[in-house]
Amino acid sequence: MNDIVLQTRGLYKSFGALVVARDIDFSLTRGARHALIGPNGAGKTTFINLISGALTATKGEIFLGGDDITQLAEASRVKRGLARTFQINTLFSGLSVLENLYLAVSEHMGAANVMLRPAGARPDVIDRAERLLETLQLSDDAGKTVAELPYGRQRLVEIAIALALEPRVLLLDEPAAGVPSGESHILLDAIDALPRDIAILIIEHDMDVVFRFADAITVLANGAVLATGSPKEIAGNADVRTVYLGERTYA
Ligand SMILES: Nc1ncnc2c1ncn2[C@@H]1O[C@H](COP(=O)(O)OP(=O)(O)OP(=O)(O)O)[C@@H](O)[C@H]1O
Ligand SMILES: [Mg+2]
Repeated sequence: MNDIVLQTRGLYKSFGALVVARDIDFSLTRGARHALIGPNGAGKTTFINLISGALTATKGEIFLGGDDITQLAEASRVKRGLARTFQINTLFSGLSVLENLYLAVSEHMGAANVMLRPAGARPDVIDRAERLLETLQLSDDAGKTVAELPYGRQRLVEIAIALALEPRVLLLDEPAAGVPSGESHILLDAIDALPRDIAILIIEHDMDVVFRFADAITVLANGAVLATGSPKEIAGNADVRTVYLGERTYA
């Protein structure tokens, strides 16, 4: 179908005897807000690593916008519009927020050598970096070093950097992990407000967040897809309740 931006077919990965992805068939539609949930060790991060190219699949295929990207290196996938954030923080903590963005934008715009020139040599890069900071409401923090920021705002910077790549698909691995609950709503509101043409696949353990944010949910258990559906379908799925959700009531 035309509105599928990312698809996996029979994606399979094992580490020795341990199978971590079992023939995963998965589709992400244009503009989707799709949550990937499941118990610890279910294979969620592994699945995102396979999609992004950080890991190579043992078997199966990955399509981005209809193109087979299974054999492409991670950097080539990024160039085609597949961006991600990590479960752990990967910023230059001694540089300012704006400098972190500046590097990401200039790299994406093919201008990485701007670092050798005086600041201001590439106003288009600075403009774009500043606009991304605005999108994530980080403008007031532009001049601070990343190390000075509360952790939740650091995670926002990571998302801004992922957006610098102008992705059509954004993979978020537990963006609120380690963020104090008082700060996490800022982060999740910012994710909620991202441009609607970007399809988002988010790994998240907080079910209140998942059921508020997602329009589709896939449940992984033991490396296999246990269920995929609307939040309502997933909340009502008996297998999912047994394996993961328990008896709480969701929206
Ligand atoms: N490089 C690796 N080598 C061997 N085993 C690995 C490797 N990476 C992950 N695993 C194993 O694969 C399984 C799935 O791990 P993964 O990190 O994908 O789970 P997860 O669903 O993201 O869990 P969590 O919710 O705790 O983040 C686990 O049993 C893990 O120990
Ligand atoms: Mg994980």
